Order: sequence, then C-alpha cells, then structure tokens
Amino acid sequence: VLGVGAGANYLASDVPAFVEFTERVVYLQDGDVAVVRPDDYAITDRTGAPADRPVETIDWAPEAAEKGGYDHYMFKEIQEQPVSLAQTIEGRVESGLDLSAETLTGVERVQFVACGTSYHAALYGAHQLRSWGVEATAHLASEYSVYPPPTENVLVVGVTQSGETADTLEALSVAGERGATRLAVTNVVGSSAARDCDDTVFIRAGPEIGVAATKTFSSQVATLYLLAREVASVVTDPPAADALNGMAELPEAVETVLDGSRAARLADAYLGEDGHFFLGRGNGVPVAMEGALKFKEITYEHAEGFPAGELKHGPLALVTETTPVFAVCTGRDAGKIESAIREVQTRGAPVVAIAPRTMTDIVEVADDALTVPAVHPDLTPILTNVQLQLLAYHAASSLGRSIDKPRNLAKSVTVE
Ligand code: M6R
Repeated sequence: VLGVGAGANYLASDVPAFVEFTERVVYLQDGDVAVVRPDDYAITDRTGAPADRPVETIDWAPEAAEKGGYDHYMFKEIQEQPVSLAQTIEGRVESGLDLSAETLTGVERVQFVACGTSYHAALYGAHQLRSWGVEATAHLASEYSVYPPPTENVLVVGVTQSGETADTLEALSVAGERGATRLAVTNVVGSSAARDCDDTVFIRAGPEIGVAATKTFSSQVATLYLLAREVASVVTDPPAADALNGMAELPEAVETVLDGSRAARLADAYLGEDGHFFLGRGNGVPVAMEGALKFKEITYEHAEGFPAGELKHGPLALVTETTPVFAVCTGRDAGKIESAIREVQTRGAPVVAIAPRTMTDIVEVADDALTVPAVHPDLTPILTNVQLQLLAYHAASSLGRSIDKPRNLAKSVTVE
C-alpha cells in the first residue's frame, strides 16, 4: 500500500502503519513496482508498463491512529471498544449486513479461513452457526490450502482484520479456484481480501495499531454473530432474536467491564509461573484460546488455551500449584467448567474464573474471579475476552515488555 502525503510518501503492508500521516492511499496490485520519492512516485505493472492506480481517501480520522495520551496503543484500543463495537453494530441489527443478493444464494454450509486472533473469531462464528443447525467449520488458513475441503454450496468466509494476511489470501484464492463464493470479513477498506472476494463485510473497528489484536476481535465476533444469523435464516429456521436485541447493550456492558476490572491486580499475582492455562467450553473455547494467545504474545510467558474437556487427555500432567488456570464461563456448560475447576484445584492450581457475575457457583468455587455483566450467553464471549485482554496487558506492563511491538511479530503478516 502506498500512502501519498505532502512532501513525503509511504510504503507499508497496510494502511494503519501510516494513517497518522496521510489519509490518501494507492492500493498496489500484485506484480506492481513503485518507485517512491518524497515528492512523487511512479508505478509500473508486472509487464513494466506505466500503471495508473487511483488515489483513494480513507475515512479513518487521523487522531484515531494516535496514542491520545495512553502509554500504549494496545491499552487505548482496549479502551476504545465501547465506541468501536457501537460502530460495528450501528444500523445492522435492524437492517442486516447489506450482503449482495448472490452471496447467500445456494449456500448450505460455511467454511471460515483465518489466522491467529481472527481464527479465534472464526471459531466463534462456526460455533454460533452450528448452534443454529448450520454446518460450519473454522480452518487455519495456512492449513486450508494443503488439503482443501469440498466447496460445493459452501460460502467461504475469510476473517482478516488487515485483509492482507498472506495465508488467508492464499486460502481464499484456493477456495475461489474451486468455485466457492468468497466473503471477506475485514477492517480495511480497499485491502486485498476486500478486493479479491465476491463480497465484503467491514467490521468498522477503526484503525488498530498495536500488534496485539484487541478491538478488532470484539468487532469480528459481533459481525460474525450478525453474519451467522443471516446465514442461518437462509439455511435453517431463523433463530430466536433475543441475542440480536441484546446487541445494543454490548457497548455499555464493555464499558462496565473496563471501569470495574480487577485484572491489573490479578495480573501481578500470577506472573513468573511455569505456565498459564486458559480453559473454556463451547463458545468459551475461542475466548480461552484468544486469552492464551494474547497473554503469550505480549508477556512472553508460556500460555495454552484449549477446551476444558481436553485437560484429562494430556495437559493435566502439567498442572501444579505453579500453573494458574483461567477458566472462562460464558453462561452455558457451567457444570462442566465447575468440574474442570475442581479437577485442577485438586492438583493445587490456583483458578481465576472469568464469568458473568450472576454465575455465583463458578465465581465462588474459583480462588479468584474477573466478572462481567450478565448478557445473552451468545454475546458473553466479547465481555469475558475484554477481561483477558486487560489481564494480558497489565501482566506485560508489569514485566516491562514491548507491548505494541512484541518481539518477532508483525501487525500484518504478508509472507507465507
Ligand atoms: O490481519 P489478520 O486478522 O488476518 O491477522 C491474522 C493474525 O496475524 C493476527 O490476528 C494475530 O494473531 C494478532 N495480531 C495477534 O494479536
């Protein structure tokens, strides 16, 4: 992507890298070569012929990409979630996602392709669809292309914040070659995923600068809930609308989590241990996996996230009094989470429950708790995840880590 400024031009993997300096963007195509100087630039296509690529204006306010008095972009972006979620949802509960007429025509099942945090959002989307009787699977994009599954009557949904992740673009390309309809769920207008797919839904989270994805995960989950509902209403009977109606309460519920979180205090209590386990059941599994990813990527401490039912199939061997366990409860399967909590407590592990404050059984059995307001269980994953974002942030902050640019990681992973 080429950013066109005054007396300065910019080359980057995606727009957030330079949105602070210019809102004028040229999207280069595969094979393009750009010669860039401070005052001008020239683009040739893959044959070497001059290429005239339009300059587009992006509608992100430059201040949205500034730190705004916060120590880190990540913390600012966590705090922005009430606003970014409201943007994501605005008008869509009433009017839907404005998919093109062809996108859902003939669709019988859904395959999500994504990486990292976006894969965890995709897991949530697949779980939500299956809960409404629609066949849906989430695939790690890097593996999808190895043995692509059958794509007949399949909608392939690429979930990618940047829209530039090479593995996800490759999976979408393979799906396209196999005749699937492809929908991009992305944050970046004009990104490769948005340009290459048959249809696009924007998550409208605003620019995310911190390498650790935070507000975009919340916006992806909210968008995928809405998408799942639209797909389900075509493929199976329309689901009950109660969580849909509850979406309007989400921004305020996130605000409540942010205002009252005890994550900063808890984070310090569980640092420097052998490992950190994050457990969930059902739609708490993507949250557990995302919680562990966030924790490990910015603290550099070992963390694993997995379904609680898997404990006894191996990981339990690692559980000791120096393995803090974070148990995510979204309001369903509480009995199963409770038995997992007791199982690890028996081995001496301290347990922190992340749960709706109304789930008193879970909160009381755990050694400590990070609670969230009670909303519809389909939406609780967003709230419990905000607590885990804060936990990871404060832990990394105490350790003095490079929070916005963790070692070895990049915001947009444009290589396979
Ligand atoms: O831009 P994408 O959503 O396609 O990026 C995929 C992953 O690289 C990304 O989600 C990564 O895991 C996060 N930045 C981690 O916080």
